Amino acid sequence: MSDTAQIIVDGKSLELPVIEGSESEKAIDISKLRGSSGIITIDPGFKNTGSTQSAITFLDGEKGILRYRGYTIEELAEKSNFLEVSYLLIYGELPTTEQYNEFASSITNHTLVHEDVKKILEGFPSVAHPMGVLSSLVCAQTAFYPESLDPNRSHGDVDMSIIRLIAKMPTFAAWSYKNKIGQPVIYPDNKLNYTGNFLKMMFALPAEEYLADPVVADALDKLLILHADHEQNCSTATVRVVGSSHASMYASISAGINALWGPLHGGANQAVIEMLEGIKADGGDTKKWMAKAKDKNDPFRLMGFGHRVYKNFDPRAKIIKKAADDVLEKLGVNDPVLDIAKGLEEEALRDPYFVERKLYPNVDFYSGIIYRALGIPTDMFTVMFALGRLPGWIAQWKEMRENKEPIGRPRQVYTGANDRTYVPLNER
Ligand code: SDX
Repeated sequence: MSDTAQIIVDGKSLELPVIEGSESEKAIDISKLRGSSGIITIDPGFKNTGSTQSAITFLDGEKGILRYRGYTIEELAEKSNFLEVSYLLIYGELPTTEQYNEFASSITNHTLVHEDVKKILEGFPSVAHPMGVLSSLVCAQTAFYPESLDPNRSHGDVDMSIIRLIAKMPTFAAWSYKNKIGQPVIYPDNKLNYTGNFLKMMFALPAEEYLADPVVADALDKLLILHADHEQNCSTATVRVVGSSHASMYASISAGINALWGPLHGGANQAVIEMLEGIKADGGDTKKWMAKAKDKNDPFRLMGFGHRVYKNFDPRAKIIKKAADDVLEKLGVNDPVLDIAKGLEEEALRDPYFVERKLYPNVDFYSGIIYRALGIPTDMFTVMFALGRLPGWIAQWKEMRENKEPIGRPRQVYTGANDRTYVPLNER
């Protein structure tokens, strides 16, 4: 089996090395292509281009496989918990009992944020989308922990930044929600676990004894696990590129939050519910909306469907769909949009347009239905995605920094005006 690739350009033959990963994926290494030929490659959206070699997450879009550090998400979702999965993604191995307890207790003891964070929060009008508040509060941590600005500091400092970020993100998220609904913020309760503390900060009223329904807390923990990493997706690639300039972890992850916000990426979970509600309000005629999704002249897309990598089912969607049935049944919730969602999926799986393009439900198609059943408001859905993706972003940033990867700076092919002389205004 050849470990080189040959390309012939302008009659000149170029031989390029082929690398192979631990799952037999192959890539042509073009890192010396321009130097040896003056030629570059071009690939809008990087659909065929690898940006790095990573040991964190493996996914096979054809077979619907997703593994974090070699462990399947099916096993982790069933047997692990979000903090343990966070440790696994960031440090590469499942923690021992001692490592886990130290990690979890460090996080518990850093959930409180500086009181001045409330001054930043109060600067946002209540109409502010929680994702904009969240990315601002995360970036603002560079002000409270200026030592974090130097990503080349000791591992101990990086580990401290990691603990602070994982610990404070739920506080930022819940406070961004309280700001939106005009309620006073609820301080973290270190007697509660990660999701229980978050739910209390989200839904408790001042001086109220609040204990989240364990069904809700467990479902949320599973959802966070399923969102924890996804190799070089748009927001993770953003975190890596921003971090490659040696920007701080907080600045890099704030950028990732903003990339996730887009409706083609993490913002899709909010867009799915808005779409389903729209179809319901329009009389529930799923065939009409399927036709709109297939009409090239109609900008409408079936949100929550399709994926850059999964050309078969998204394994996360399968788990979330089952969890949606379980959670709604346990909570006694009957959500009519769940039936509309299932109807759309059944129709799409039989429709040649979707089958030919291998468009299946993705992670965002059913997640919003569970969030809604858990009482999470729609414009907080993408914040929940960010909460889940945080350990993945951290792990990818850390790997990029430890591998001393170069600054991300793509090339281009220029298509603009050729050399021309300036014409004074009075002569134009
Ligand atoms: C996430 O990358 C990741 O890993 C992301 C993510 C993660 O965990 O980080 O998995 C999370 O972002 C999931 C995706 C959430 N987004 C949506 O649900 C939005 C709706 N989906 C589409 O916008 C689209 O499918 C994308 C953005 C997800 C993927 O876009 P691609 O890979 O660029 O594919 P494409 O736009 O080139 O589409 C290929 C064809 C086109 O038709 P043709 O031009 O070939 O005729 O499929 C069509 C598209 O028009 N198509 C759809 C469609 N998605 C693609 N048609 C109708 N409805 C859709 N949803």
